[in-house]
Amino acid sequence: MQTTDADVYCPESILEALPRGTVVTDLDWRIRYANQLVARALRCSINELVGEHLCVVGRKVRVVDSSHELLDFLVHLTKNPPDRLEVKMVQVRIPERRSIHITVQPYCPDGAVRVGYLFTFAEYTREAEIIEMKDHFISDASHELRTPMTSIKGSLELLLGGYAGELPDSATELLGICLTAVDRLIRLINDLLDIAKIEAGEMELHLNHVRILECVNRCVRAVSSLATAHKVTIRVESSDRIPEALADRDRIEQVITNLLSNALKYSPSESCIRVRVQAPAESIVVSVIDQGPGIPPDKLNRVFDRFHQLEGAKKGTGLGLTISRALVEQHGGRIWVESEMSRGASFHFELPALPANR
Ligand SMILES: Nc1ncnc2c1ncn2[C@@H]1O[C@H](COP(=O)(O)OP(=O)(O)OP(=O)(O)O)[C@@H](O)[C@H]1O
Ligand SMILES: [Mg+2]
Repeated sequence: MQTTDADVYCPESILEALPRGTVVTDLDWRIRYANQLVARALRCSINELVGEHLCVVGRKVRVVDSSHELLDFLVHLTKNPPDRLEVKMVQVRIPERRSIHITVQPYCPDGAVRVGYLFTFAEYTREAEIIEMKDHFISDASHELRTPMTSIKGSLELLLGGYAGELPDSATELLGICLTAVDRLIRLINDLLDIAKIEAGEMELHLNHVRILECVNRCVRAVSSLATAHKVTIRVESSDRIPEALADRDRIEQVITNLLSNALKYSPSESCIRVRVQAPAESIVVSVIDQGPGIPPDKLNRVFDRFHQLEGAKKGTGLGLTISRALVEQHGGRIWVESEMSRGASFHFELPALPANR
């Protein structure tokens, strides 16, 4: 039989030629289309897949996969249908570890009405290994750098404190510049180590009963001289009774300090930063509200991404909010931002509260 242009360039042939497994389901998660790549990976025919529930993909992999990640993800999706494109990396062990890059989005063929969900699957093992190697390298290098940096800082502080005798003003000034730079490097190294720990799931929290308002007051005191230097006022507001939280005090103070340092960086002189502590039902919400330039609506979620800084961002590495989000989420809470351009930014985080009668 002769193949015509119409056969070769029809959407079906193009879909089959894609290097990604493709699955389309209806709104009840029944598979309506699967390409050959998916069928081959699952060692079955396309006909066996069409009409089955989406979770059959996870179950077929589960037979040989000692991890549950793929099936768990698909089950989770069917309970929380996505409204926009979602990207997820899952690991399967069959028996060696393989990484799969999955995208899922509502399927709206006419661009308006949703009739199902469109999935793509691609092997990502090599890329995942390279990312892992890079992360290990950053983490090992940061570790190795921290000790010498700490001794450089100690020596500078001794010199500035007069350990080697009185220094001429010019030397004091230069050593002061060195100390500021070393402090920045140590902060960066600590941030990189935190990110590495968080991503490896090794960030340990030392949980205790914590009064969040006291944390806020301590953090505000710590940045008060910086605020005075910027001619910025910080006002703490709190509702009457704030329950305690089960939290790691140092880590929560790290989050508050991150938010305060951002607010200070972007606050114009003579403006006010409000730090509000409230206790709506069974939770504690801390808000840091500034009168700075604000954040454009399409960038609101991106500010939490690793190394992401907006155009015109001031000094920093773009890690503060990434670490803050991970820490808050590890406490079972959430963090978000609200902002209107030119009307300041409000960062909020919420933690579960301990029952009041404890
Ligand atoms: N209060 C704010 N007002 C306006 N933009 C902000 C505010 N807070 C954060 N941003 C934007 O979000 C970006 C990410 O913030 P983040 O705290 O993660 O990094 P950073 O402050 O640049 O560096 P780091 O905290 O690692 O020293 C900032 O670079 C800035 O562009
Ligand atoms: Mg910051």
